[in-house]
Amino acid sequence: MEKRKRPPYSQNFSGGTTQLYKIALIPGDGTGPEVTAEAAKVLEATASACGFAYETTSFDFGGDRYLRTGEVLPPSAVSDLRAFDAILLGAIGHPDVKPGILEKGILLGLRFDLDLYINLRPVKLYPGVETPLAGKGPEHIDFVVVRENTEGLYTGSGGFLKQGTADEVAIQESINTRQGVERCLRYAFEYTRRRNREKTLTLCGKTNVLTYAFDLWERAFHEVGGADYPDIKREYAHVDATCMWMVKNPEWFDVIVTDNMFGDIITDLAAIIQGGMGIAAGGNINPGGVSMFEPIGGSAPKYTGQGVINPMAAISACHMMLAHLGEQEAADRLEAAIVHVLSHKLESMSAGKMGYSTSEVGDLVAEAVANPIK
Ligand code: IPM
Ligand code: MN
Repeated sequence: MEKRKRPPYSQNFSGGTTQLYKIALIPGDGTGPEVTAEAAKVLEATASACGFAYETTSFDFGGDRYLRTGEVLPPSAVSDLRAFDAILLGAIGHPDVKPGILEKGILLGLRFDLDLYINLRPVKLYPGVETPLAGKGPEHIDFVVVRENTEGLYTGSGGFLKQGTADEVAIQESINTRQGVERCLRYAFEYTRRRNREKTLTLCGKTNVLTYAFDLWERAFHEVGGADYPDIKREYAHVDATCMWMVKNPEWFDVIVTDNMFGDIITDLAAIIQGGMGIAAGGNINPGGVSMFEPIGGSAPKYTGQGVINPMAAISACHMMLAHLGEQEAADRLEAAIVHVLSHKLESMSAGKMGYSTSEVGDLVAEAVANPIK
């Protein structure tokens, strides 16, 4: 753990001292540290411009630490992280570690143990960013996916029978609890209300085949919505149809709520229509505790250390973190800077094709935060 303190820049408008945000940084593997450094650079510029104070503490969780110690997370990790106001994660996944170990041990481990039960993934095409969808622009692609983040097929429930024999059986169970489903739905309804756009929440499921799991989801959806959110329009779409509409008519969506596995899959599709992994960010949220913000993309080992990876997703994760902390003015200022750099500077969102290095992109955003173009 490496600690870095920076002084509060100013006092807040009510004359009291500014709150000191405690931010945990987990740069992680591959290009994670490179993009996290740019997010940290932009955080510093935003704090200077907007007058909030924070300190960062870095944790070395990731593949290198695992190879050195044999431990995915130290026993104190979860309780240590609970003491922070927010966590910014770079990427997890190391070429020398068998796939699954770090993802399950670190990323899913933190999602589960910190009870980060919402995975919030905004899908917004910014002006100047290319989408593979013909004839679609920023006015068509602006919705949010609320993915359940602690249940479903991700609980690791199941097992083998007669493993390695011709009679082998592999079972992987989807766990859906009324409480887990309902808290996710309530978050999604509240979010849709606060977002205040189409006031439409679409449940994405598979009620025609998953007749237990999505029966529970659908019943809870209508019960909770009917009782407590009559102002929110309820829609339903099967997951396969959701994929089709996301490509054909993404403008139909306002907020989508879905289970863990479907949420994982549809948000890769969603990420590519908003410009790709270079830009897509998400928040793992525990509304009553610490939350963790991350680029949706992975550790991109082949680009590691070359200064070519796009840090915008990590910078966008930082933007989500500021909004989550309630620093709305800072979040808006940072988003405006992101939009400026995306629309006027970057040639492409792809690694090595941006027209700038990773750290130059961070510099451009930091500069646009410091001196906003009116
Ligand atoms: C994501 C990732 C993870 C997931 C992997 C790395 C375990 O794909 O955050 O979407 O499946 O949730
Ligand atoms: Mn995924």
